Amino acid sequence: MAEASVLIGQSGEPEPMRCALAGRYANRHGLVAGATGTGKTITLQILAEGFSDLGVPVFLADIKGDVAGLSQAGDAANPKLPERALKTGMTDFRTQAYPVVFWDVFGRQGHPVRATISDLGPLLLARMLDLNDTQEGVLNLLFKYADDQGLLLLDLKDLRALLAMAVDNPASLGSDYGAVSKATLGVIQRALLTLEQQGAEAFFGEPALQLEDFMQTTLDGRGVINVLAADQLFQQPRLYATFLLWLLSELFEDLPERGDADLPKLVFFFDEAHLLFNDAPKALLDKIEQVVRLIRSKGVGIYFITQNPLDLPETILGQLGNRVQHALRAFTPRDQKAVRAAADTFRAKPGLDVATAITELGVGEALVSTLGEGGVPTPVERAKVRPPRSRMGAITPEERQTVMSRSPFKARYDAALDRESAYEQLQARAGQQAQAAAEAERQSEARRLAEAQAKEAEKARLAAEKAQAAADRAAARRPAREPDSVWESAAKSAARAASSEVGRKIGRELLRGLLGSLSRR
Ligand SMILES: Nc1ncnc2c1ncn2[C@@H]1O[C@H](COP(=O)(O)OP(=O)(O)OP(=O)(O)O)[C@@H](O)[C@H]1O
Ligand SMILES: [Mg+2]
Repeated sequence: MAEASVLIGQSGEPEPMRCALAGRYANRHGLVAGATGTGKTITLQILAEGFSDLGVPVFLADIKGDVAGLSQAGDAANPKLPERALKTGMTDFRTQAYPVVFWDVFGRQGHPVRATISDLGPLLLARMLDLNDTQEGVLNLLFKYADDQGLLLLDLKDLRALLAMAVDNPASLGSDYGAVSKATLGVIQRALLTLEQQGAEAFFGEPALQLEDFMQTTLDGRGVINVLAADQLFQQPRLYATFLLWLLSELFEDLPERGDADLPKLVFFFDEAHLLFNDAPKALLDKIEQVVRLIRSKGVGIYFITQNPLDLPETILGQLGNRVQHALRAFTPRDQKAVRAAADTFRAKPGLDVATAITELGVGEALVSTLGEGGVPTPVERAKVRPPRSRMGAITPEERQTVMSRSPFKARYDAALDRESAYEQLQARAGQQAQAAAEAERQSEARRLAEAQAKEAEKARLAAEKAQAAADRAAARRPAREPDSVWESAAKSAARAASSEVGRKIGRELLRGLLGSLSRR
């Protein structure tokens, strides 16, 4: 029996040759590159279809809205599709819709994808907030404080409450946590405000995404294609890149090691991948490189999609075994450099001038090299890419609604949950403080009254005795001890509220793997 593979297309010279991606090596990652309008998105679409057909779930981001077409059957009346299918080695062409689940960080075009602040961790949050090292250090410290004190950090208002508390009373953090400047806290607060203005509030909170929900198959054995509606998210490139990075790190942490397998567990497409690396600090780059390298053995294949392969760091490029290179332009010296670099990464095929071919490829044509027997790259082929079975292009809002209404995940994720966490814990404490202050005010008022009455008493002994009695009653109501300091009480109330859930979160925080645990000491 032929090995499970995903058909990409067919090359014609000197004779028709099937170009496919072997399921067995699909976890050795891949690259889809090419200038705008050369066919990258359709290639992504046919790869997603192919994996789904093999029963492998897929995750991808839909930046322009044109990937959503996967959820609808292609145009059966278009004669060009079957014609192209025949030329590209596809003998069983028919149009067909694919099982798609829509997700949306903002919860509009798909089920909300949420993560808690503590799940995200200080490193990625600092990246989202664009903090410098000092500010990131303070954020780390606040996370540590919250962990130590059992304060749950779920959503943005929890983090806000924690920051506000640190600003109001920095000394109460205690010497264990080092010095924290108000100015730095102020910068973090402002960065947080910017993040909120970008609409990130919706992303943080519960119910948080369960990763296994990204790894579903249908009853008839097809892999579910998770489409993240990213047109809005993409407006904030930093948020977009950090979010996808968070997903990768979660997958990396949660999935068990598995040996070589016939098929990957999940295929993850990272569109506009250069954004991940844009001015990323060295420490983060190293971690990304490490995650990409190690996630392979957990059965996750990552496919980077980008216009120019030079936009990816060499350490990452070197790990991408399966390559589909669409046309590149060669106008400027930088273009020409990219062409040469892209050409150099292919295993040569006699008679094919790769560098020239890259600039001559038509739309929907590509240079293809995949991993073959023994994980060795096949010689590069110039191939015509097969047509998709699903629709090329966008879908209507009604079509999206229909897909969403049939989704098994709407009950689980669509309504937000707001359970007691740092914000409520700290607010309850602030409420108790306000009550205590009102009580103290009432008592001093009573004392003033008593004193006034005592003066009167000099004139009238009866009145003085009465006033004295009132003062005694007031004194009896005075509390036995001073209220706890704010931090102390927050900690106590948190400890009281501590449930197994808190334990789980904290345990998880401590166990955070590669990305989350990265600290800059
Ligand atoms: N394999 C294919 N089969 C049929 N048509 C294709 C194929 N590849 C590309 N096309 C045609 O070319 C058009 C452009 O392709 P595509 O949208 O994939 O380009 P792109 O590289 O993603 O562009 P951009 O960078 O602008 O997003 C498609 O809308 C489709 O009409
Ligand atoms: Mg595109």
